[in-house]
Amino acid sequence: MTSTGASPEIKTLFSADQIAERVDTLAKEIVADETDELLVVIILKGSFVFAADLVRALERNGASAQVDFVTLSSYGMGTESSGSVNLTHDLSEDVAGRSILIVDDILESGRTIAFAVETLQKRGASSVKTCLLLDKPTQRKVSIEADYVGFTIDPEFVVGYGLDLAKRYRGLPYIGVVQG
Ligand code: IMP
Ligand code: MG
Repeated sequence: MTSTGASPEIKTLFSADQIAERVDTLAKEIVADETDELLVVIILKGSFVFAADLVRALERNGASAQVDFVTLSSYGMGTESSGSVNLTHDLSEDVAGRSILIVDDILESGRTIAFAVETLQKRGASSVKTCLLLDKPTQRKVSIEADYVGFTIDPEFVVGYGLDLAKRYRGLPYIGVVQG
């Protein structure tokens, strides 16, 4: 099987330009709210592209942030969440007393973000806020809302800009819906 850069079976939901504009606006909102230096906690893998753009947008807008990474997984190879969240790779920073901004790709059931927020609060972070690229509010199983949301979408499975379906499509510069 070969694959090319263009994937004809994917319908664009948000173009690279739309995403770039929205990320810059999100960074401005965050900078307007935050006075402390942030530790940006990036939830891998799905948010790595978004987070890379967001931290550079924060810097452009006058806020320098430190970064750290955590890997959480709730999905197997399919499009259904397994329901439980696993921490498969932990942070390297001590979060006690820090102002944290958790960055993740999609808020769906809410389990991933609820787990991340609770974990960082238990470790003594002084504040924990959340920034999500996408929100599927109709899919919530846990009562939680993000502090910052890029785009609110219908409950369809999206790929690109870091998001995968069975490990594919993360490198697409836009966000799209796999057809069929
Ligand atoms: P939650 O714990 O149900 O909120 O799941 C959120 C996680 O599920 C996200 O961080 C993604 O990794 C994954 N996810 C949910 N919806 C999608 C999607 O449409 N495309 C790719 N990954 C998704
Ligand atoms: Mg994820």
